[in-house]
Parts: sequence; C-alpha cells; structure tokens
Amino acid sequence: MKNYFLHPDSIRSLFDNIAPTYDFLNHLLSLRRDLYWRKMAVQELNGLKGWILDIATGTGDVAIEIIHQNDRQRKVYGLDFSEPMIKRARQKVFEKNLSKTIAFSLGDALSLPFRDNTFDASTIAFGLRNIVKKEQALFEMVRVIKRGGKVIVLEFTLPEKGLMRRLFPVYFQRILPRLGGLISGDRGAYAYLPESVLHFASAENYEEAMRSVGLESVGSQSLTGGIASIISGMKKC
Ligand SMILES: C[S@@+](CC[C@H](N)C(=O)[O-])C[C@H]1O[C@@H](n2cnc3c(N)ncnc32)[C@H](O)[C@@H]1O
Repeated sequence: MKNYFLHPDSIRSLFDNIAPTYDFLNHLLSLRRDLYWRKMAVQELNGLKGWILDIATGTGDVAIEIIHQNDRQRKVYGLDFSEPMIKRARQKVFEKNLSKTIAFSLGDALSLPFRDNTFDASTIAFGLRNIVKKEQALFEMVRVIKRGGKVIVLEFTLPEKGLMRRLFPVYFQRILPRLGGLISGDRGAYAYLPESVLHFASAENYEEAMRSVGLESVGSQSLTGGIASIISGMKKC
C-alpha cells in the first residue's frame, strides 16, 4: 500500500492544534455526513457485546456511538496519541454521563499497550489514513482482539466513478482547505487532509491490507457515493 508521508510527530501536533475546532469543523465540512458514517460503521458490530477498543479515537465520537447503539452490554476503551483530542473526548463523555462505560488513554496505535486476545472488537475511524505504517496498525488491532472478533475501519476513499468522482477533488482541494484553515486558524492541517485522501486509497487497497494481516471475511461498504467506506474483517477462529 502506498503511503502519503507525514512524520508521526507532525501528525500529532497537527491534531493537538485543531482539537478545539475539530468537532465543529467535521460536522460543517462534511455537512454532518460524518455522524451518519460513524453510525453505519458502528452498526457493523452487529450487536456484538463486550469490550471494544477504538483506536485513534480523537474526540471520542465513535466510542460514544458504540455505547449509544448498545448501552447495556458494551464497554469501550478509546486510545489516541494526541492529549488535547483525548481531553475533549473525556469532557464529552463526562458531560454525557458515560464515564462508567468509556475509558480513554494516551497511546500509540503502532504499539498497543494491551495483551493479545483482550478485546471483542477493534475500530478505527478516519485514523488509518494518517498512520504511515498501516499494516503495523492493523496487525496490532488484530493482535489485541479475541479469535472471531471484528476489525472495523472507517475511512475516506477516492470515489471510483460518477458525479462524486468529479466533485470530490474540487471540494477537497479548493473549498475544504480554505474553510478549514479559516475557522481552525491552521491552514496547513486542512491542506494536509485533502492530500492524505487524494494520494490515497480505494476500499480495495484497505481490503488488501486487512487480508495481509490475516483477517478473514474481509469486505467493504461504500458510503455517500464512495467518499467514505467501511472495511471490515474477522480474526480467524
Ligand atoms: C481524523 S482524527 C479521527 C478521530 C475520530 N476517530 C473521529 O472519528 O473523529 C485522527 C486521529 O488519529 C490520531 N492518530 C494518528 N496517528 C496515531 C497513532 N499512531 N496513534 C494514536 N493515535 C493516532 C490523531 O491524534 C487524531 O486524533
């Protein structure tokens, strides 16, 4: 798989800087589609119970959605390497009175601080794109889940055809960096986002990477004309 390279320290400070406006801009720039995409990705858990690990959890929206869809039988552990992002996640979870079911900690997706076969599933939303060693991150997500558990990836993908194929680069290269830069005050961050998407990948690339780390029953679901995709797989029983 190709990588659009940015050093992990730069990625971390990029997210440290945009943490205060991250949620607002996500909803604005995606016209609130991001909420629907996360909801659909979490539905892929198919009623699965137990402990779920959300990698690159950011401000915690996937973690919160996981509990929202099944509040009695799930617990979530969210992990991210940006302290300001995690701080906002903790604040949201506290305000929603979910501190008993969701815990967060700082950590690197490339070296998860958990034993093998600990969780029932692992998820990552809009995070894998930013990680240079994607197979290593996927390998870690597989290592820490139990046999038969699921790995779910939600990521921007380049639409293959149709109207979205033509609109997507225009929006991502012209509109998004200006609007994102203006509101967050960090033009660089919102210029990086389109680059990281446009230099990247189709759902098939992600499927391939997931198979390469030994996942089975790998498949994907295209969302909103292919702008985003959910790619999932199962750890061998
Ligand atoms: C675009 S945000 C996605 C946040 C959240 N999952 C969401 O759906 O909004 C990407 C997140 O990945 C985190 N991240 C990037 N590389 C990481 C790594 N190697 N280890 C842990 N977190 C990482 C960043 O700090 C950032 O919070």
